Amino acid sequence: MLQRLECTINGEKIEYDVDPSMRLVDFLRAKLYLTGTKIGCKRGECGACTVIMDHTAVNSCLVPVMRAHGMEIETIEGLEKGGHLSILQEEFVNKGAIQCGFCTPGMIMSAKALLDRNPDPTSREVQEALGGNICRCTGYVKIEEAVLAAAERMRKEA
Ligand code: FES
Ligand code: FES
Repeated sequence: MLQRLECTINGEKIEYDVDPSMRLVDFLRAKLYLTGTKIGCKRGECGACTVIMDHTAVNSCLVPVMRAHGMEIETIEGLEKGGHLSILQEEFVNKGAIQCGFCTPGMIMSAKALLDRNPDPTSREVQEALGGNICRCTGYVKIEEAVLAAAERMRKEA
C-alpha cells in the first residue's frame, strides 16, 4: 500500500506516493533521478549515499523513505546554484581531492553538514566528520585539505 510522502528536497516541496518499504536512497535515485547520491554497500558502511536530513548527515541507504516525511533533505544536486559550483565543490576540484569521484558526493555532503554547524573545524574534526565516508582512491589527505580550504574561504566570504 502506497503512502503519501511530503518533504522538501533541495529547497523544493514535493509530494509523492511511495512504497514505504523503499529506502531513501532508492527513492532519490529511481523516482526523482537525483543520481548524484551513490549506492555502495547498502548497509551503512561506506558513506557513498550520504545526504543531509534536517541538518544532519545520514546514510540514506539506512533510512526508510517515510522517515523523510516532513523533513528537509539536501543532496549533492542542491549545492550548485545558477550553474556555479559551491565553494566546497570548487575546493575538492582545486585540491585534487577527486579521483574516480564515486565517494565524492557523500564526502561533500558530510563535509557540508560539518561546516554548516562548525565553520572553523580543526583537522581532527574534519577527520571525525568524514570518518564514515570511505574513499578507495585518494588517501584522504587532499579531501581534508579541500574541506579546510573551503571552510577558510567560506569564513572570508561570509
Ligand atoms: S551505500 Fe549507504 S553507507 Fe554504503
Ligand atoms: S575518489 Fe574514488 S572512491 Fe574516492
